[in-house]
Amino acid sequence: MNPRFELAHLAHAELLTPDMEGSLWFFTELLGMREVARQGDSVYLRCYEDPYHHSLKLTGSDAPGLGNLGWRATSADALDRRAAALDTAGLGRGWTRGDLGVGRTFAFESPDGHPMELVWDIEKYVAPPELRSPILTRRSKRPLQGLPPRRLDHVNLMASDVTAQKEVFEQTLGFGTRERVVDFSSGTEIGAWMSVNILGHEMAIMADSTGSRGRLHHLAFWYGVPQHNTDAAELCREYGVRIEAGPDVHGITQGAFLYVFEPGGNRIELFGNSGILELEPDFETVTWDLADFDTGIAIGGATLPAETYFVYGTPPVPGQEKLVATGGARS
Ligand SMILES: [Fe+2]
Repeated sequence: MNPRFELAHLAHAELLTPDMEGSLWFFTELLGMREVARQGDSVYLRCYEDPYHHSLKLTGSDAPGLGNLGWRATSADALDRRAAALDTAGLGRGWTRGDLGVGRTFAFESPDGHPMELVWDIEKYVAPPELRSPILTRRSKRPLQGLPPRRLDHVNLMASDVTAQKEVFEQTLGFGTRERVVDFSSGTEIGAWMSVNILGHEMAIMADSTGSRGRLHHLAFWYGVPQHNTDAAELCREYGVRIEAGPDVHGITQGAFLYVFEPGGNRIELFGNSGILELEPDFETVTWDLADFDTGIAIGGATLPAETYFVYGTPPVPGQEKLVATGGARS
């Protein structure tokens, strides 16, 4: 069966952090996300328009990185079909009993080793009376603190082999590749931007030049308003959160970006618009040439620092931790 549209969207992510206090400060005080639960070494958070129990699970760990990514299927049958396809591809890790707010899931790994799961049964968020919004399309009131993003948006993964990773997600899970970057001098694919719905991307894959496997480049949260990225940059400057790049707009995806490092060391993107939406069912993949890439990187000319943006991921390779050390004033 054609796997296209068997997955609905990115439902939740787990980030590992060696600095839970700092990470919680960043996500709840600066970004205004709400804590919904704690269990063991984990804290569950949500944005005010996230549809489910939580979108972000923070788990204490020795090093930053990706703990899990949850993709929601479009039906229970679709979940079963995609689980079978993952098993056939040798990537399945079996059924789980789920998590807080999450029913049974099918765990799997990307070809590069990124931990992921598929889910259908999931708890839809119902706000307690004091958090209910009169804006009925909104799952909860906009928080008063920080500069709150509306929802989880997308993930960017580093991979040792972009093409291998991309093809599995196309063929097994029905992702569409909207854009890619190719080094035409060698024929090597160095980046791919993919989605399971009309978004310009829900998952990006970029080549990991360190040769590492299974690392996270960034997790992105959605503002949908470019001014918020400038406002967020001001807050990050004032409160000691290291800004890597932006605000600016990528030519790739036309996404308005601001990249920062949360205190645990994970790169977080704040997404200031919706980027290009792909409504055509028979869209054709756009290919950027690495040798002519300036517009793809940033329409406004922002620099993505070579010493971090194209090499730093989480967990960091030895020696990289100091690249993003912050130690700013959190108050
Ligand atoms: Fe991104």
